[in-house]
Amino acid sequence: MIKFLLNNNIVSTLLPAGTLLLDFVRYHQHLHGTKIGCREGDCGACTVLVGSLNTQGQVVYRSATSCLMPIGNAQGKHIVTVEGTNIQGLNFIQQAFSNEGASQCGFCTPGFMVSLAGFCLQANEEPTYEQGIDAVNGNICRCTGYKSIERAIGTIANKLTTRQQESAVDFAVNNQILPEYFKRIPDKLMALQTELSVVPNNPASPMSIVGGGTDLYVQKHDSMTERNDLYFAQRESHLSEIAQVNDLCFLGSGTTVTDIAESPIFKAHFEEWQAVIKLVSSTPIRNMATLAGNFINASPIGDFSILFLALDAQLQFASMGNTQARQLPLRKLYKGYKQLDKQPDEYVERIFFQLPDAQTKVNFEKVCKRTHLDIASVNTAICLHLHSDGTIAKAGLSAGGVAPVPAFLPKTSAYMEGKVPSRQLLNEVCALAQTEIAPIGDVRGSVAYKRLLLDQLIEAHFIKLFPKL
Ligand SMILES: Cc1cc2nc3c(=O)[nH]c(=O)nc-3n(C[C@H](O)[C@H](O)[C@H](O)COP(=O)(O)OP(=O)(O)OC[C@H]3O[C@@H](n4cnc5c(N)ncnc54)[C@H](O)[C@@H]3O)c2cc1C
Ligand code: FES
Ligand code: FES
Repeated sequence: MIKFLLNNNIVSTLLPAGTLLLDFVRYHQHLHGTKIGCREGDCGACTVLVGSLNTQGQVVYRSATSCLMPIGNAQGKHIVTVEGTNIQGLNFIQQAFSNEGASQCGFCTPGFMVSLAGFCLQANEEPTYEQGIDAVNGNICRCTGYKSIERAIGTIANKLTTRQQESAVDFAVNNQILPEYFKRIPDKLMALQTELSVVPNNPASPMSIVGGGTDLYVQKHDSMTERNDLYFAQRESHLSEIAQVNDLCFLGSGTTVTDIAESPIFKAHFEEWQAVIKLVSSTPIRNMATLAGNFINASPIGDFSILFLALDAQLQFASMGNTQARQLPLRKLYKGYKQLDKQPDEYVERIFFQLPDAQTKVNFEKVCKRTHLDIASVNTAICLHLHSDGTIAKAGLSAGGVAPVPAFLPKTSAYMEGKVPSRQLLNEVCALAQTEIAPIGDVRGSVAYKRLLLDQLIEAHFIKLFPKL
């Protein structure tokens, strides 16, 4: 049985756990404010908020596209649809949109309302206009024009700057941004968690683990929605932890891109971390998508597969059946197009890698048809450990979109070791990398174009990491 808080009411259902939240709220709860646009996570018309209790007993709200979210991932959570943001009269966000003429046909508007409610509930000290814009980066409007929407967001962000000691929820309730029931949600969720602690995550049969569902529900929508034999990694608290032990970082396989984006460990060890994260999908998709899902989906252009190949991440597999737990370098996972060194009953439990130190330089580059919110034509990452004299001690270079798998380039990586970074080395690295790739021409570019892109992105690595050269 699945049970969660939907707006101000507890709901429970015996529908298959793979049923989409979008269909559940529209067809079973008759909440039609949540719209269906693309059903592929691209338009934001179906946006909801997902509130989860953290270890301090506070509710953390993140936006999600309900068209890719199984109700199994809603278990024990607070799900907020646009109806759940209503108060008597227009709320502050709705009024700001109305004042600026930021809604014409109105089809996209519920999605914007929900994403901006999520912005107002962010716990950060000083919410900014830029964060408001980021909150709606997964929402598309086809008829109003974004300038009026941006002005409305400006008004909302200004209002939030007047927040002082109050919590985000208290401020939102006291300023007609959200309804009063939000104040009682932590207690309700706490009681629900206690009740659900005895309900097991379904025992999984092989191949049925779900992370955020952002690949599964795009690729296998029809079969997924019928399934009741799914195992939800994000429901296991031990799979959602990010921890540092000495110079190693351990990530539970249920950690999302947003968890990683906000992790103090990542912020402390990676320069320009936020810029890298902004190159990956949109806010609601980042809130759902897991690292393990990115690795196992095995897309040749998976951004995190490419980054973690360069970092030489290790996978710890656990088993649902007879296979023994084991460890495997990510660099050995990919055997061919969507073919993995993984038994059907194995799942990724944890991922770990060595955190970069002062002598380590890491860079990620990605070219898409548009800069943000797009999948890569070609992406690449590099990780160089330097000796104190500047010689490269250890190198890892990976590239996506240039082979049937997310590719680690072993010969080029090994060639760099023992050498001093120079223009000549860059030329040699570019030439050698070309011998290790086999791109195909497709909608994202011809073979020649992808080869040229990789050349230029390797040059970009060197420019970023060794600007004095
Ligand atoms: C609109 C949109 C934009 C996107 N943009 C990008 C982008 O910019 N860059 C990018 O790289 N990707 C992008 N993606 C793809 C996707 O979001 C990522 O690949 C994501 O990391 C997948 O994670 P998930 O948790 O949602 O995977 P799921 O869909 O839950 O699972 C994917 C696969 O991994 C398996 N799996 C999940 N967890 C485990 C585990 N612990 N052990 C074993 N197997 C497991 C599942 O069984 C399934 O086979 C985008 C997707 C959408 C819909
Ligand atoms: S319907 Fe378009 S993102 Fe869900
Ligand atoms: S108001 Fe029509 S799509 Fe946005």
